[in-house]
Amino acid sequence: MPVNIYLTRRIPQPAIDLLSSYFEVSINPHDRNVRRAELLEHLKDADALLCQHTDSIDRGVIDSAPRLRCICNNAVGYNNIDVAYATEKGIAVCNTPGVLTEATADLAWALIMSCSRRIVESDKYVREGNFTGWEPMLMLGSDIYGKTLGIVGMGRIGEAVARRSAGFGMKVLAYHPRRPLGESPEGWHYVDLDTLLKEADIISLHVPLTPETKNMIGRDELRLLKNSAIFINTARGAVVDEEALIEMLTSRKIAAAGFDVYIDEPYVPPELKALSNVVLLPHIGSATVETRTAMAMMAARNAIAIFKNETPPSRIN
Ligand code: GLV
Repeated sequence: MPVNIYLTRRIPQPAIDLLSSYFEVSINPHDRNVRRAELLEHLKDADALLCQHTDSIDRGVIDSAPRLRCICNNAVGYNNIDVAYATEKGIAVCNTPGVLTEATADLAWALIMSCSRRIVESDKYVREGNFTGWEPMLMLGSDIYGKTLGIVGMGRIGEAVARRSAGFGMKVLAYHPRRPLGESPEGWHYVDLDTLLKEADIISLHVPLTPETKNMIGRDELRLLKNSAIFINTARGAVVDEEALIEMLTSRKIAAAGFDVYIDEPYVPPELKALSNVVLLPHIGSATVETRTAMAMMAARNAIAIFKNETPPSRIN
C-alpha cells in the first residue's frame, strides 16, 4: 500500500520533490487555505499530514484520520494543533524551529524601524503628492540609537532580535520566565515583566502562544508602557489584548505599534486600519524565499524521518 501524505497548501518545489521520493503526495490544488470538509475527506486515507499554522488540527480533524502517523506543521508555532490529543492517539507532531529565526528577527527590526521613523506614513505622504519641499518639522519620529529595547520571550527569535540591537547602541531588557534575573554574559538585563514594560522604549514580543501566554500583555500591562513607547508583535496576536492596545494607540497613550499578527487572522479591526501610528503586515515574519524553502524542507524531513523510524529534525511530542 502506498504511503500517503496530504499537503494543505503548495510548498516550495524542492520540498515536494523530496517528499515525492518517499510518499504518494497529494496537495490542496486551490490557492487558498483548505476547507475543513476538504481536509476531513483527504485525511481518510492519509498517513502523514503537512499543514500550515492557519489549519486548525483539532480533535475532529484528528478523529477523521484513522491512518495518520504524523502531523508536520510548516511553522515553528503549533498552537493550531491539539498536541495532547495527537499524543494520546500516538501521532507524532513536528515543527520547524531554527530555520526561520533570522528572517523573523529581521522583520521585527523592519517594524521597529518603520514605526520609529514613520516610514510607511512618509511613503504615503510622498505618493499622495504632499511633498512640496523640505520642512523642519516634517515626520519627526524617534531615535532608535541609544534607546532601551525590551524583549518579551528570549527564545531563539528574541535573542536574534537582541543581537541586532548591538549596532544601535541599545540597552536590552529581557523577560524570560525561566532565566535568572540580572545581567547575562551578552550584557542583556533580565528583569521582571513589569519592569521591562515600564522602562523599555521599544517592546518586541517573542513568546509562543500557549495557555500561559494567552493575553499575557493585557490592559493592566499595557498601562505600564511609556507614552513614547513603540510596541511590536511578530509572535501571535492572542498574546496581547488587541482591543486595549487599539484604545491606547487611538488615544496616543503609546506612540506607535507594528503588527505582523492579529487575534483573529486574517481579520484586521477597522479601528486599527484607520490609525496612522501603526504599521500593519500580513503575517510575513518568515516570508523570504530562502526561509520558506528551508522550513518546507525541514517539514518534509520531519515527515520522512517518522516513517523511516529515524529521529526527525524537530518533534514536539
Ligand atoms: C509562523 O507564524 C510560524 O509559527 O512559523
